[in-house]
Amino acid sequence: MSDIPDIKEKIDIVDLMSEYLQVKPAGTYHKACCPFHNEKTPSLMISRERQRFHCFGCNADGDIFTFIEHMEGMEFVEALKYLADRAGVQLSQRKSDPNKNQKNRIKDINAAAARFFHQFLLQMPGAKPAREYIANRGLKEETIESWQIGFISDQWDLLTKYLLKKGHAIDDLVAAGLTIKRDNANSSTGKGFYDRFRGRIMFPIWDIHGYVVGFTGRVLVETEKSGGKYVNTPQTIVYDKSRVVFGLNKAKQSIKKQDQIVMTEGQMDVIACHQAGMEHVVASSGTALTEHQVALLKRYSSHMRIAFDADDAGQKAAKRGIDIALEAGMSVKVICIPEGQGKDPDECIEQNKDNWFTAVENAQDVMDWYIDKAFAGRSLTDPKEKQAIAEEILPEIARVPFAIEKDHWLQIVADKLGVESRVLREDMARIKKQTPEKKQQIVKKEVKSVNTEQKTAVPTSRVLQIAEQFFCLILAKNIEGAPQLFDEIAPVLSNHPLYEPLKNTYNAGRDIEALRASVSLDTQVMIDNLLMQAELTFLSLSDKEAQKEASNLATQVVHIWKKEQRTTLQQQIEVAEKVGNIEQVNTLLKQYQQLG
Ligand code: UTP
Ligand code: MN
Repeated sequence: MSDIPDIKEKIDIVDLMSEYLQVKPAGTYHKACCPFHNEKTPSLMISRERQRFHCFGCNADGDIFTFIEHMEGMEFVEALKYLADRAGVQLSQRKSDPNKNQKNRIKDINAAAARFFHQFLLQMPGAKPAREYIANRGLKEETIESWQIGFISDQWDLLTKYLLKKGHAIDDLVAAGLTIKRDNANSSTGKGFYDRFRGRIMFPIWDIHGYVVGFTGRVLVETEKSGGKYVNTPQTIVYDKSRVVFGLNKAKQSIKKQDQIVMTEGQMDVIACHQAGMEHVVASSGTALTEHQVALLKRYSSHMRIAFDADDAGQKAAKRGIDIALEAGMSVKVICIPEGQGKDPDECIEQNKDNWFTAVENAQDVMDWYIDKAFAGRSLTDPKEKQAIAEEILPEIARVPFAIEKDHWLQIVADKLGVESRVLREDMARIKKQTPEKKQQIVKKEVKSVNTEQKTAVPTSRVLQIAEQFFCLILAKNIEGAPQLFDEIAPVLSNHPLYEPLKNTYNAGRDIEALRASVSLDTQVMIDNLLMQAELTFLSLSDKEAQKEASNLATQVVHIWKKEQRTTLQQQIEVAEKVGNIEQVNTLLKQYQQLG
């Protein structure tokens, strides 16, 4: 277990998290928008010194290991290995045997298969038609090399035999999704197993760290028996198609630099774009965009431009993707390839690559796109059609969270329809009632599990909440009148775990390190979190403002506490009166009067 401090020493938490989030300095800490819940202003604080992060919005909390586990969907042992590799730390024996781990074995098998397919394409006489096909589609040699494009001819078990001969176990080949097992298969003889990919151009699918996690294979000659134009690796322990974004390993730098993602539908689109010099392009490949993919992409940019085929299925898939990206707080634009310039990015580029660059440049605001789509092909002289247009657009406008923006779109649609915007507003109210808000369960679930490690002070009442702010401010700023304020809140908070330590520290020159050293581990965490929170909330206050705020908070603490006490006492008095306990009524009344 001594590996852990070693790794922590070598990996800077701020650097690591900066690879995933837009991290900005905040006083002695760093802050970022929290990836574990939806937010637009940062409430995640990172302490370089303590090697921890904490989110004040959702309470996600942890260190580099917790962070990687959640961002990469890794188990602890995987995160440990990943970070140890990065840190150049040799893991102690037990965990270091990579072959013990089937995930690592499958990644090795995939890498070997990718090499096999690629060499097959380049060298085998039987791959000549494939080489011609690929050249015909305009792919250059460097592109074939850099995307490790390959080919496998149409035979039963070429790859399976090759990998078995190299010493891989048949069960691992099946687990990798490369080999399919017949019902009558026999593991010890290797009989009854055959290749999943046959007669296909092969594209490796990488995860963002550059491990080959799966493949997609495009049929070379489409026949009735070829079973789908594309065949993909099925779900395996290293490949989950809802979590992989095709091309992201190659696109991520460019996406970050341009602060923009171009989302396409197919592998060929991605490869053609990169070859044409546009490198911030990825594909969801074979699925509508998922929440996981969006979360992954958001690490690099929150501006997405989506291109999709103009057919109906393409539009439906796009709409789901757009909704998911919008829900995750991304800004989304829609790329429309003009009529006659190709059905997808790959075709558009082949015709004239400038057209594609222009189409990306001219991407439309999502709402404009919805509006155009709803009006397209409908007659404005028919009231039924006008209503249909409204029914299609209003749910979209209803979801815009900002009133002014919402009004802007209502106005535009009203003008186009030739009705008053008041009418649309009424209709929208009705539609909104019919569509209850969708909650984001996934994010919640994740946060719950991030948060198991430590409990921060959960305020049980408003008093404690305000007290926390008070302590926070007291920790962060040198407040001149602090001793009096401590006296003021003593009746309410003298039992609070932070009260005594903080008060003493104040009298002894605010030595925060000494303070941390003198308290329990739980209280230390509480203090660290408060210090981080202070940078978020109070950083911009001048000393004078801080002074005023501290005094305000102290007064509020006492004021609200008294109010709560009165209510409680009143209730107790009522009860005592009802049961006729005069003695108790008197004691309670006295307490009530003492509150002042
Ligand atoms: P398309 O049919 O538009 O293919 O499917 P494409 O990308 O334009 O491919 P080419 O240009 O004909 O070679 C778009 C994407 O949908 C997935 C693939 O990821 C494909 O790139 N798909 C399509 C499948 O997974 N299976 C299929 O049978 C077809
Ligand atoms: Mn295509």
